[in-house]
Amino acid sequence: MKIKMAKNAGFCFGVRRAVDTVYEQIADNDGSPIYTYGLIIHNMEVVRDLEAKGVTVIRSEEELKTLEHGTVIIRAHGVAKRIYNLLAEQGIKVIDATCPYVQRIHRIVEKESREGKKIIIIGNLGHPEVEGIRGWADGEVFVVEAEEDAVRLADEISGDSCIVSQTTFNYNKFKDLVDIFVEKDYNGNVVNTICNATEERQIETGRIAKEVDAMIVIGDIHSSNTAKLLEISRKECTNTYFVQTLKDLPLDLPETTTLIGITAGASTPNNIIEEVQNYVRINF
Ligand code: F3S
Repeated sequence: MKIKMAKNAGFCFGVRRAVDTVYEQIADNDGSPIYTYGLIIHNMEVVRDLEAKGVTVIRSEEELKTLEHGTVIIRAHGVAKRIYNLLAEQGIKVIDATCPYVQRIHRIVEKESREGKKIIIIGNLGHPEVEGIRGWADGEVFVVEAEEDAVRLADEISGDSCIVSQTTFNYNKFKDLVDIFVEKDYNGNVVNTICNATEERQIETGRIAKEVDAMIVIGDIHSSNTAKLLEISRKECTNTYFVQTLKDLPLDLPETTTLIGITAGASTPNNIIEEVQNYVRINF
């Protein structure tokens, strides 16, 4: 069995930076509580390790309001502006691990909406990153997730607007959705804010999936970028297997498999990737 390993598998720059930030805070801690606002990463093994080291996950704005002291770490997905205001009012120390690529979107949305433009976010409604981006708009903001949303909004929207995207959105889908607006004479700004790490990973996954007999995508079910890789891989390779943890092994690969591809979402730690690689090497 030959393996084709994706070069861009595993932690992206933003996730690595956020996870390292939490471990640094633990190392420097003077005993005051450390919180992350939401899961720092969509990987329960890492989250459990952090919890064992004393880090508490805050799961809602209401919970955040009850804090009296300590440090809150903002994860790579970022948060709405009002969360920073809330923490400042409460006098809580903030360590901001928002990925710089997400911060860039916040700045664009803040500036454009201050200038009176309507904001269109191409992304998954309810995803924390999208909710965070929404929270930097002063005026009207819309989320477009599917073709029907784009068709409806393109017919209704008037005046100046600006389109941005969730960093992990599928690049081809983004282009298709923007085309729907353009065909309806949209003439506002379009800023492709899909991050390079995501785009490269998606292109590479599609390329490998096309070449191999079977494909393994490693990641967490709640990770948006892993879900996208899975979708892309399934399109190109019907024998696509999803592995969340080592419990998902063994795999029942077709007997004719001679070349297998492996990729992993941006929040997948290296040790899981290595163990899956070893499993394939030893067993096939
Ligand atoms: Fe940042 Fe891109 Fe990762 S936006 S968190 S480097 S997927």
